Formats: sequence, structure tokens, C-alpha cells
Amino acid sequence: MAEIRLETLAHRYSPHGAYALKPLDMTWRSGGTYALLGPSGCGKSTMLNIISGLIHPSEGRVLFDGRDVAAFDTGRRKIAQVFQVPVIYRSMTVGQNLGFPLVCQGAPAAHRRKRVETIADRLGLGAVLNRPANALTADQKQLVSLGRGLVREDVAAILLDEPLTVIDPQQKFDLRRILKEINVEFGVTMVLVTHDQTEAMTFAEEVIVMNMGEVVQAGTPRELFEHPATRHVGSFIGAPAMNFLAAVAQDGQAMVPGTGLALPLPADVGSGSGPGPGEALTLGFRPEHLQLAGKDAALSGTVTRIWFEGLDEIIALSHPAGEIRLRAPAGTGLSPGDHAGIVPEPGRLRLYVADRLAG
Ligand SMILES: Nc1ncnc2c1ncn2[C@@H]1O[C@H](COP(=O)(O)OP(=O)(O)O)[C@@H](O)[C@H]1O
Ligand SMILES: [Mg+2]
Repeated sequence: MAEIRLETLAHRYSPHGAYALKPLDMTWRSGGTYALLGPSGCGKSTMLNIISGLIHPSEGRVLFDGRDVAAFDTGRRKIAQVFQVPVIYRSMTVGQNLGFPLVCQGAPAAHRRKRVETIADRLGLGAVLNRPANALTADQKQLVSLGRGLVREDVAAILLDEPLTVIDPQQKFDLRRILKEINVEFGVTMVLVTHDQTEAMTFAEEVIVMNMGEVVQAGTPRELFEHPATRHVGSFIGAPAMNFLAAVAQDGQAMVPGTGLALPLPADVGSGSGPGPGEALTLGFRPEHLQLAGKDAALSGTVTRIWFEGLDEIIALSHPAGEIRLRAPAGTGLSPGDHAGIVPEPGRLRLYVADRLAG
């Protein structure tokens, strides 16, 4: 196990090209679970490949337990990496695939057999150990890839680069559970790359949200949900996205015209005469943090659409300031065209100045 530290790490694929990864600092605790979350092309694989040693960063350092690993290849870093497409040795059995890293290490056969059985049982591959790996289903092949990473007892971290993309939703759920169990049982650091927020939020203790080569926010799923650092995070995390309404500065407050929504302006915003250029004000609030109220509530609108989501309804309201979505327990009895009042729960409004969370 190792603590992984990234020190002013950055990467450009060509000397004068754009940053694929902008300078960042980060520490991953030994034994922790992390997710890199962001759209395609935002630099997730670049970061992972730098940690595993497949790419040498153009700037900064990677430290394992305080030690610079620049001179170490993937094997010496004791990193197991699992990719989107399962990597298996097609001509070998499942058992031979799993045991291969131990063969390379020169481990005695008896130890190898025992270790392979332990890992296979853990991954639910016990019954297929003697089958050709090539004959397995896509998700079983991915388990074999993962198992090959786990079979070495000295593995420092497992890096998973969108490993669940080829797998159907129910099996994804099971595989995520297995990953968590392995993390707890073996105490191995796990970093999961994904563009699926549900996957990230249900897997990781800490989610690192990336966009355009930049780490936008790193925090627990709850922190990301309750205090999105930018409007981008508020939109990317949570479904439906966070609501955002444009606000104006008035009497030391940021308020949304025509509503009762307001928050105090931070002292450093504006210069007495309100916010300056590049300091656009927005109030943000989650659909989950709104409650239906009487028609004369401070905020009200006309119902335009309703979606059913099992126990909940998502209700879209049109308001002159913009569309507002609210999540409510099913059975509100509302229909499109109805007029409805809503109130945000106390303490749930967030102020964004130039798209960044204020305060
Ligand atoms: N080998 C490469 N050479 C040049 N540019 C690359 C290479 N690999 C990735 N990039 C660019 O770096 C950026 C980040 O890519 P990547 O880390 O693969 O993103 P992600 O994994 O989040 O989809 C993208 O703009 C991509 O086009
Ligand atoms: Mg990628």
C-alpha cells in the first residue's frame, strides 16, 4: 500500500502544445477509494497513466510514500491497471491468466495455486478457473483483468480506467460492490476513472471532478452535492442538475428579481456600486432542497413538465427568472399548467460569483 502524492503535476503531449493536464497538487491516502470524474478528453487517462508510469509527466513529480517514482516502471511501482477493454491472455485458462504475475515473480507453484484460488473465489471466478479465458463473457474477462492485478500481494494501488463501460448495469452494480469489498479486505488504494457520476459517487470516498485538463473540485460525494465549487460541478453532479437563477446586487444582497430568494453579498464582491464586470451573480439550489408550498409562496411558477422516477416526481416550473426543477415524493397531484409555489429549505441556497461558489 502507498500514499500517492502528485506535486505540481502537469502534462503536455507536445512541448508547446496545450496542457492535457493543468498543474495540480493532490494526495491520495493509502487504502482510500477515489474516482476521477469528468467528460471525455478532460485528462483522466493522462493522470492515471502518469501515476502508473505509462506516461512521463512533462512537469512535476509523483511520490509514493514520499519517494519520487520517476525512475520506476509500472511493475516496480507495484501498480495494477485495468483498462476499458479487458486485457487477457487468450490462449491461457482463467487460472493461468490470474497466476501469470506470480509466475513472472518466480513464486512457488503451491503458493501460486493458493493465491489464485483465493482471488478467484473473491471475484466469483472459482467455477471457471480451468476454462479458456477467451470463452468468458465481457464482465468475467474484466474480472480476470482485475484479478491479475490483485494476485500480487504487494500491489500498492489499483487504477481502473473506465473498466465498467463494457458491462451491463446490473453487473456494474455487482462489480462495484466487489471492488469495495476488495478495498476493505486487502486495504488496497483504488482509483476509478469514470464519466458516470453515479458510478463515481457510489464508489469513492473522494471524487475528483475534472474538466478541460483541470481539477475543478475534490471532495466527498456529500461535499460535491451540497457545496459544488462551480456551476459546472452543480450541473454535472446530481440529476436533475442544480437550479441556477441569475441574481442582482441590491442593498448588500444578491437577490433574484421577482422572488424571495436572496443571500448576503460577500464583502469582496463589487465596490459599493454592486458587482463589477466578470462578477456575474447566480443563486444555485438543488431540486432535492425545494418544497412545495402555497400558491402565494415567495417563489412560484407554472408547471410545464412532470417526470416520474419511482418514488419521486420531478416537476419543472417555468418562472420569469428561468426554469426551476424540484424533486418531490410522488403523488403531488400536480399537472402541467398548474400554478405551484415553492420554498427552498433553509441554508440550501448557494451564491456563485462568476460561476464560482462564494464564501
Ligand atoms: N497520445 C496523445 N497525444 C496527444 N494528445 C493526447 C494523447 N492522449 C490524449 N491526448 C489529449 O489529451 C487530452 C486528455 O486526454 P485523456 O487523458 O485521454 O482524457 P480522458 O481520459 O478524460 O478522456 C485530450 O485533449 C486528448 O486529445
Ligand atoms: Mg480516458
